[in-house]
Amino acid sequence: MMTERPGTYPCILGIESSCDETSAAILQGFQVRSHIVYSQMVHKKYGGVVPELASRAHEHAISQVVHAAFETAGLLPADIDAVAVTYGPGLMGALLVGLNYAKGFALAQNIPFIAVNHVEAHLYAPMLEFPELEPPFLCLLVSGGHTMLVDVRGVKDFRILGTTRDDAAGESFDKTARLLKIGYPGGPVIDTLSSSGNPRAVHFPRSLLDPDSLDFSFSGMKTAVLNFVKKQETISDRDKADIAASFQEAVVDVLKEKVRRAIQVTGHRRVVLAGGVAANRRLRQELRNLADSLKVELFYPPLEYCTDNAAMIAATGVMYFRKGWFSGLETGAVPNLKLT
Ligand code: KG4
Ligand code: ZN
Repeated sequence: MMTERPGTYPCILGIESSCDETSAAILQGFQVRSHIVYSQMVHKKYGGVVPELASRAHEHAISQVVHAAFETAGLLPADIDAVAVTYGPGLMGALLVGLNYAKGFALAQNIPFIAVNHVEAHLYAPMLEFPELEPPFLCLLVSGGHTMLVDVRGVKDFRILGTTRDDAAGESFDKTARLLKIGYPGGPVIDTLSSSGNPRAVHFPRSLLDPDSLDFSFSGMKTAVLNFVKKQETISDRDKADIAASFQEAVVDVLKEKVRRAIQVTGHRRVVLAGGVAANRRLRQELRNLADSLKVELFYPPLEYCTDNAAMIAATGVMYFRKGWFSGLETGAVPNLKLT
């Protein structure tokens, strides 16, 4: 049932530093007063995130990012009711930077501290655009580290319906882009390149597993791209666009089919698309078509809230605050934190 959740209380500072984005956001209720993301470019030349460099870059950026969040919001630390921060999953060194900063802030201001599961926060990101959206809903969470279908029954009340057996969807985009030597991170590059390619140029396998399964498998698709590339004597830019578009089509087909099955199994009438891969234009379009044909509602966050950001951490903080769920300052970073 949709209920109205108006109000600009509480005022939450959110901090995110689990991977390669240093981000801070200030929310009043679900209203975003400021949202700052510093994306670390230092990893680009390595084709992936280098943990040591990530921690160092977070340390360098964190105070500036938080200060910028206050400046943009026109607020002061004394205006904040609680600080919410990612405590996992993610890179240990990177997590510690945000976590320690947030603890220091909470101590200095004498306000509550809220430790947030990064994956859970992704599920709620669409609420930043649609504050009236409330569980229950079905969520397809597709990011660089996760691919799962989640039955979201309430705040912190989930059932994982399916998950990946090998690569995450975003990881498969990143690995395929590396293979085609077209840049990093692979998702946005493949998304852009695909618009000039033919999605039917090459048929890559769609691994749907058995008919009842809501699990995913993407490693076969990545290997199929590798085998196809190996067989070619030369690959022109045109070929790359065709391969990218065909690969993207295969991934989107699988995700769409699994969402269709999950809607059938759960009977949910609201579907949420979240995580970095939710930025993919083809995926958004195809899920929109599916939702229209099945007459279910589809929600996805604006692009800036699909990839890692502190606004979704603060939004989770708002919900926890309203329930009175706070964390102790002894809470440590949990690099392999699970959703359930
Ligand atoms: O949620 P996120 O920022 O980080 C994790 O928590 O993993 O997701 C990053 C992932 C990367 O694998 C990136 O390639 C993918 O999201 N991604 C995309 C697009 N934008 C980002 N994948 C497909 N299409 C996009 N437009
Ligand atoms: Zn993420």
